[in-house]
Amino acid sequence: MLQGRKILLGITGSIAAYKAAVLVRNLIREGAEVKVIMTEAAKDFISPLTLATLSKHPVSSGIFSNGVWENHVMLGRWADLMLVAPLSCNTLAKMEAGICDNLLLAVYLSANCPVMLAPAMDEDMWKHPATKRNLKSLEAFGNLIVPVSNGELASGLFGEGRMAEPETIVSAVLEHFQNRERLRGRKVLISAGPTYEHIDPVRFIGNHSSGKMGVALARAFEQCGASVTLVLGPVSNKFSLEGLEVIRVQTADEMFQACNRVFEEADITVMAAAVADYTPVAVANEKIKKSEETWSLTLKKTPDILKSLGQRKTGNQVLAGFALETTNERENAMNKLHQKNADMIVLNSLREDGAGFGKDTNRVTIFDRKGGEVNFEMKSKTDVAKDIVEYIINYIHA
Ligand code: CTP
Repeated sequence: MLQGRKILLGITGSIAAYKAAVLVRNLIREGAEVKVIMTEAAKDFISPLTLATLSKHPVSSGIFSNGVWENHVMLGRWADLMLVAPLSCNTLAKMEAGICDNLLLAVYLSANCPVMLAPAMDEDMWKHPATKRNLKSLEAFGNLIVPVSNGELASGLFGEGRMAEPETIVSAVLEHFQNRERLRGRKVLISAGPTYEHIDPVRFIGNHSSGKMGVALARAFEQCGASVTLVLGPVSNKFSLEGLEVIRVQTADEMFQACNRVFEEADITVMAAAVADYTPVAVANEKIKKSEETWSLTLKKTPDILKSLGQRKTGNQVLAGFALETTNERENAMNKLHQKNADMIVLNSLREDGAGFGKDTNRVTIFDRKGGEVNFEMKSKTDVAKDIVEYIINYIHA
């Protein structure tokens, strides 16, 4: 049920816009209040009058209407969810680029509610690498995507690219609101990214972690309604971190301090960061000049954050770690589970093509303290994150 939920429906120029009338009616039938904004191109496919009549609200379209400026910020603030259906290839690309040349885009860019996108386009446009890339970044920005379906397209061809049916979109909206109740009131701590251990003012010891897996996890927990604190190492990706409390750190020691501060309050903690195991004993104040043919740097162990949190963990807290292994994967992961007193270990192997550092996909196996072991298929990191969250929720209720 969508009783009391406010949905802002954005409609763009695609033949699938004719289905927006059914979508509005079905959302209202579920109890939602719906307001519609549409692009100029959308009006060629469906009349604003139809949508205004069905939604019982005037339809907004231009940045100005009747000489009055439309307050796009307030439209975004009014909504509990912004749903763009259909989302044309053109608007999809503009959203990715941050272009703001109509009211719908201005509302999208300023909205601080969750945004759900239901793309619709011809198969060749759908399969173009630019579209794939744009959709991937929109998903990484935290937008929810309703997958396209297969079938007859406006061109007369059959293939992928059709907008999901209104019933499917309404189910996705219902699922979204139900999801947000699942971890409401729970606090989650995630570590992500690499750490940089300084050698001198210009050099450091780092690793290839991109932070993508940890940020996807933070996002997946947030989508389940949890309050998420993300302790994030130095990453070069420009993530959208809206809705997350972010503590930026550089070194393993800073990550340790930050996690220690937050841990006590956290119901669920996942250490996804690739923490450096060693750090220089001393950091030089000036740039180290080259001299000898060989040079040794003395390193000391960094604090093992997961292990230390494992020692402090109470019976009400769930603690998960990652293991990155190249040999004896299962055995090493099980050892980490016990030695670090974690509730579960998510194993990813660097030997898998498409898994690991910097990739958009991952393949994981989860081992837990109660003897559970589940192998997952290769998936996008967004979907792997959802699997991990699901696993943890089931673990809590087991
Ligand atoms: N970890 C940590 N603090 C460290 C090192 C690792 O919290 N100083 C955490 C990681 O975030 C991960 C888990 O421990 O959740 C396992 O990390 P991994 O690098 O696979 O293992 P290590 O414990 O570092 O052991 P090794 O490098 O010998 O495999």
